[in-house]
Amino acid sequence: MSLSRHLIALSAAVCLAAGLAAAPATAEPRPRTLGELARKHHKYFGSATDNPEFTDAAYLKLLGSEFGQTTPGNAMKWYATEPERGVFDFTAGDEVVAFAKAHHQKVRGHTLVWHSQLPAWLTERDWTAEELRAVLKNHIQTVVRHYKGQVIHWDVVNEAFNEDGTYRESLFYKTLGPGYIAEALRWAHEADRHAKLYLNDYNVDGIGPKSDAYYTLIKQLKADGVPVEGFGIQGHLALQYGFPADVRQNMQRFADLGVEVAVTELDIRMNLPATPSMLATQATWYADYVKACLAVRKCVGVTIWDYTDKYSWIPSVFPGEGAALPYDENLRPKPAYHAIREVLGG
Ligand code: G3I
Repeated sequence: MSLSRHLIALSAAVCLAAGLAAAPATAEPRPRTLGELARKHHKYFGSATDNPEFTDAAYLKLLGSEFGQTTPGNAMKWYATEPERGVFDFTAGDEVVAFAKAHHQKVRGHTLVWHSQLPAWLTERDWTAEELRAVLKNHIQTVVRHYKGQVIHWDVVNEAFNEDGTYRESLFYKTLGPGYIAEALRWAHEADRHAKLYLNDYNVDGIGPKSDAYYTLIKQLKADGVPVEGFGIQGHLALQYGFPADVRQNMQRFADLGVEVAVTELDIRMNLPATPSMLATQATWYADYVKACLAVRKCVGVTIWDYTDKYSWIPSVFPGEGAALPYDENLRPKPAYHAIREVLGG
């Protein structure tokens, strides 16, 4: 071997050795997170969160790394943001937004007008229509302005219909009539022209009286030029009631009306104790729900209603039920987590 050939061979060997040292053959690439996998489909995969959970470092680590979007479970509701008339408190909401920003997550604003979790000053007296309209407008516009540019969506009106598709007799409906929905959307739009404005509800997964009511309402709102831009399908399912039929078709019919669709609060509860076979069924349901969103171009993403059974709202509201989320109470991934990954191409 000539000297020059010898040098080339030697330097090649040195480079190879250096390369091996830099990237040992045993090093596995970091598995993509649910958020990253969803992004490949031009969608987000997110989780709700709540402020008391912000003291749990292990919880926060996963929340910040695995998900591309977050929704405050309670922090932006009326009781939290305007606890006294005209006195606004954004501490809790700001904490969630700061966390999301630090972890490059999108935020869904939840929620401006809802019959539940209202402050006592609002519910414990009677209002004339004129008074309530002023209170509602001020609440919506102050909160939306505060978060302008920081939230991608607002659930402007939450849970406006009964199961049979009639209007829920909320304080707002009883005092202002059904027109409060269009007014709320217009006021929110005035305050932030970029956040997408949603109507959001549960038991609207498939085609039925309640989702029909939204279909009719959104069609009318669009015809009237009201800025409604999204339909939020909460997706609180229970194994004992069966998987809803027509999930994809239902999403598609809203998309065809010209609004986007989001799965906003997905969880799938069961009667406890959870068995391996129940957890396997749950995994299939999560996969099927995510598949439906992937099949509809205007379905922009899926949010689970927190990610771990440790912090699920289910056991306190449905005693004897639970195990609804893709991670167990010890933050270990369940079959549902793996099924979601697989559907997203992980
Ligand atoms: O803030 C009080 C605290 O001071 C008190 O010590 C504690 C004791 O129970 O209660 C705290 O309030 C709780 C609140 O969450 C904040 O943690 C309420 O009791 C509890 O009922 C409330 O539950 C929330 C529920 O909405 C209320 O309807 C859940 O966390 C929240 O996940 C849930 O989310 C809703 C969506 O907004 C709309 N769709 C349905 C979904 C599930 O109900």
